[in-house]
Amino acid sequence: MRIPFVDLHAQYLAHQEEFDAAFREVIGKTAFIGGEFVREFERAYAEAYGVKHCISCANGTDAIYIVLRMLDVGLGHEVITTAASWISTSETISQAGALPVFVDVDEYGNIDVEQVERNITPHTRAIIPVHLYGQAAQVEVLEKLAASRGVHLVEDCAQAHFAERAGRRVGTFGVAGTFSFYPGKNLGAYGDAGAIITNDDELARRCRMYANHGALVKHQHELEGINSRLDGLQASLLTAKLKYLGEWTEARRRVAGWYDQELASIDWVARPRVRPGSTHVYHLYVIQVDDRDALRAHLTRQGIETGVHYPVALPLMQAYQYLGMSASDVPNAARNQDRILSLPIYPEMTAEMVHYVVAAIRSFRG
Ligand SMILES: Cc1ncc(COP(=O)(O)O)c(C=O)c1O
Repeated sequence: MRIPFVDLHAQYLAHQEEFDAAFREVIGKTAFIGGEFVREFERAYAEAYGVKHCISCANGTDAIYIVLRMLDVGLGHEVITTAASWISTSETISQAGALPVFVDVDEYGNIDVEQVERNITPHTRAIIPVHLYGQAAQVEVLEKLAASRGVHLVEDCAQAHFAERAGRRVGTFGVAGTFSFYPGKNLGAYGDAGAIITNDDELARRCRMYANHGALVKHQHELEGINSRLDGLQASLLTAKLKYLGEWTEARRRVAGWYDQELASIDWVARPRVRPGSTHVYHLYVIQVDDRDALRAHLTRQGIETGVHYPVALPLMQAYQYLGMSASDVPNAARNQDRILSLPIYPEMTAEMVHYVVAAIRSFRG
């Protein structure tokens, strides 16, 4: 059997007529940039989150950058974030002109909130937690901390659509939540796409303006901005897909449950741990083992695709050598990077497929 890491085609085949019709409608109306399809997606996404504003943009990286810029985060400021994420989370801090301050992860793989508190200085302007792999971080703690210390909380929800902490959807704890709709994400476009959600009217206005060359009204540029737009084709597809996101999320959780059950009898595999009070929407199902690379090669030989998210913790990357950090500064993230292995997961996976993957893992040690 061949088990791909993700299977975007399976989802397309299940909804082909609806998705094709969505594209045809946009093409028929030539509503390629801006317009009714983009507005409809923004309305539907804001409604799904119960927030006042959704501002769509070109991708999840821009979403973070736009928010930081419009919160006036820049030169001389520090922004605290996690050592374990995709580089978008930290490169946008630098692009805004601020200094990324990395802290280690906790035993669940998310940002360690006690270390966040310890690293706040008079220069700290924002905190960016990431709900890594789809598991909600302790944002209710960070929400209080940010309020008491007068810093902004911006949630990177790129991997965590519909995940919850303490019964509330993540993305609604901070002044803004940012999302990626990269094709492989839990809600994925057929190209790049992203969005910001917020209840702050002024921040929403500024983000919308900045993403559109600094203008809300054509030719009236209040400031210099960037060109970061969601296009009509992606917007109409995302609106069509949003209806199924709850169902797909449940399906991912079901698949994760099968993995949990089957892997429980393999004592050399550490399964993902979920913090009480957090939900996990399993963008990724990440196990930990001692001999990761050998297991990965073994699975590849059996036709099973896997991933590593991510092989080097952010502060240990070449890009951040200038910070002078070492593994002893972020011991958990440094240890995890050599042990983590992301197994195939997507809503269309069957119990038989999970069984096949786990049998292949079991056979690694005879
Ligand atoms: C945690 C995290 N933040 C930000 C991003 C950036 O999203 P995009 O690829 O849409 O720019 C991603 C995904 O790539 C991500 O996983």
